[in-house]
Amino acid sequence: MATTGKVLSEKFYTAMKKLEPRYPNKKALILPALHEAQKEHGWLSKETLEDVANYIGVHPAQIREVASFYTMYNLKPVGKMHLKICTNVACCLRGADELMEYAEKKLAIKCGETTPDGRFTLSEEECLGACTTAPAMMANDDYIENLDINSLSDFIEKNKGGQA
Ligand code: FES
Repeated sequence: MATTGKVLSEKFYTAMKKLEPRYPNKKALILPALHEAQKEHGWLSKETLEDVANYIGVHPAQIREVASFYTMYNLKPVGKMHLKICTNVACCLRGADELMEYAEKKLAIKCGETTPDGRFTLSEEECLGACTTAPAMMANDDYIENLDINSLSDFIEKNKGGQA
């Protein structure tokens, strides 16, 4: 069992130690481990996935397979503020496409890109499970619901400088 890794800090292993008693085995910890690992650098590099694989005790390819299945795991670097606009049916019916167009224009990037200052990454999401308050967006781990052009614009403005 690995207790330290190439890139993951002691904080990761301490957090996992706390979680271990709540799971039947290490493999059941893959999703929480990826979540915890992503907190360290905001995304999951090849080395990070290898550390997670060592910790779980499986081949790195298995960890990559799981991480690539879920859109919440970033396999490439993202900005400090990762905006994920849901463009699934309920959100689309309430203007999600227009919101995405607006965000692309305001941030001067395309969906899937990061602003040159590393402040924002813009992504498209499948259903965020907030259909009753559509359109919805996630900003890092926070949900923003009943989104409209004004609230999106305000949010971007508020997070342009300072802490994001
Ligand atoms: S369709 Fe957007 S949250 Fe469900």
